[in-house]
Amino acid sequence: MCGIVACLTKDRDKPTLSIGIDALTRLEYRGYDSAGAAFRTASNTIICKKAIGKILNLQKELEEYDQTALTPLILHTRWATHGTVTTSNAHPLSDCSGNFYIAHNGIVENYTSLKKQLQEEGHVFLSETDTEVIAHLIEKYFINNLEDAVRKALEQVVGTYGIAVISTYEPDKIVAASLSSPLLIGLGEDIIFVASDLSAIAPYIQKVVYLDDREVAVIEPNGYTIIREKKPQEVQWSGSAHDKGNYPHYMLQEIMEQPSTLEETMRGRLDLQEGSAKLGGLISVAVRLSRVNNVQLVGCGTAYHACLFGEYLLEEHACISSKSEVSSEFRYRKRALSKDTALIAVSQSGETADTLAAIKDAVSNNILALGITNSIGSTQTRITDAGVYTRSGTEIGVAATKTFTSQLVSLVLLALLLGRQRKLTLPEGQTIVNELLRIPNLVRHTLLCTDRVLEIAKKYENCENFFFLGRKYNYPIAKEGALKLKEISYVHAEGSYGGELKHGELALVSEHFPSICIVPKDSVYDKMVSNIEEIKTRNGTVIAITTEGNTELKSIADDVIYIPETLEILYPILSIIPLQLFAYHFANLRGCDIDKPRNLAKSVTVE
Ligand code: F6R
Repeated sequence: MCGIVACLTKDRDKPTLSIGIDALTRLEYRGYDSAGAAFRTASNTIICKKAIGKILNLQKELEEYDQTALTPLILHTRWATHGTVTTSNAHPLSDCSGNFYIAHNGIVENYTSLKKQLQEEGHVFLSETDTEVIAHLIEKYFINNLEDAVRKALEQVVGTYGIAVISTYEPDKIVAASLSSPLLIGLGEDIIFVASDLSAIAPYIQKVVYLDDREVAVIEPNGYTIIREKKPQEVQWSGSAHDKGNYPHYMLQEIMEQPSTLEETMRGRLDLQEGSAKLGGLISVAVRLSRVNNVQLVGCGTAYHACLFGEYLLEEHACISSKSEVSSEFRYRKRALSKDTALIAVSQSGETADTLAAIKDAVSNNILALGITNSIGSTQTRITDAGVYTRSGTEIGVAATKTFTSQLVSLVLLALLLGRQRKLTLPEGQTIVNELLRIPNLVRHTLLCTDRVLEIAKKYENCENFFFLGRKYNYPIAKEGALKLKEISYVHAEGSYGGELKHGELALVSEHFPSICIVPKDSVYDKMVSNIEEIKTRNGTVIAITTEGNTELKSIADDVIYIPETLEILYPILSIIPLQLFAYHFANLRGCDIDKPRNLAKSVTVE
């Protein structure tokens, strides 16, 4: 979704524009539909250029400007929420006078009433955005100090914001502020940044300071000030995260990387002797964890599917009553959570607005809040009591793949830890640990099905509807397989319980509406085979994913994909692989924009 990069330098030779554009490009993967830049000129006016579509279009608009030391400079990628995709709605946006420019992530929920009031006071609006009201409010409150005006303006705002503001009145200053929308200050050599995501500016900085809710920061050439000063943290940056190597798409690279990302998720965490897991991020809450009797998992989209898996797993193996719910529902329902409940929030980005709201709610009710995330330093890590990093590396493809399997493995590690404190026996724990050690190789082996999956994708290339069916641990995988296909190929797909078919969904089954059935040799295998028979009896088409060595389905299903044998609870880590590959190949055959599917953003930072 929207991204902010702003910078300021006193070194006149610093190529701020190319640095800023490079940083903005690193946010491209989050999704956007327009981009813009505003900077101060030598004659102390502010020039603002914007373009719809790719950042390349913005670069063309900026070609005529001196590429060095445009300072201060603010840049933005917009993912439209209020107002259509036009240059006038793109950020930065200004007040009536053109003396204040703002880039904003978040939503001003009360913008209609603020806009009406400002219009009555004579302010003229040039965009349909909610953001523009903040620019006019700053103009209204400015006396001779930008941060005071920003603070007063934000007092009027109901909603969320991460903002960067510049003004002709105080030409060497950027004012930044945040509320429920991530923002950080990056300190580099002779250059200071404000950005919404560390990955944008990490190559250019050595230290970072995260803004907390309602903090206002003033950035000047010699440094920054925040109301509450905080100690900078060291930046760890490998520098290679955005290279897709020889792969045509990030998504394919990320699918293929899974053996090594899963190794990373488990590195140093398996304890064979104890049949358990060592999770350093949870040590600080060990005593509270040992008293937990209920677990509530929350997440959105793919992360929610990981939660569903966690629900089956924690209940069965950690012997803890578990429920999962999408964060956007959880946050608005009246719940009776007992004090011995732990909330487990699962989020790749750690910035999903609904999930953060669910965590805040739990924390304010004294419920232990744990997080599973891939994003170091994200808001989620700062508002939860403790957590587990999935360690999957940056995921650029909008459709989550490697982060999902790392979430599944992180949940297995958590189940081991909690289970061994309860009824999971040592031999049971050791069996799981031993099998987890094999998982990277089993995933590597499963990935060899890619050519077979491509063949199948070609066969069904013209179908517009698909069922994905599974039971128990593979029900979340049916949901996830359907979501992957919808997201990147734009065809209709439904993920459902095998057992629900005959309660209505069978009516849709036909030769042209294939069902992808996940049928490993597990405790519900026979039930799933009955479901396949029901589909075949009604002239339906079946693609089955089953365990190697199982020949029974060859004569029943139309196509079969094999995955290696493993424990029932670990099958989902393998069965999702052909489904990720199916979505990829199917979408590729149909010429879709795989890494940046239409209408979607990588990180959903608004409600
Ligand atoms: C699907 C996908 C989304 C995200 C969802 C939650 O491929 O990526 O469904 O899973 O938006 O995002 P996070 O995990 O960042 O909270």
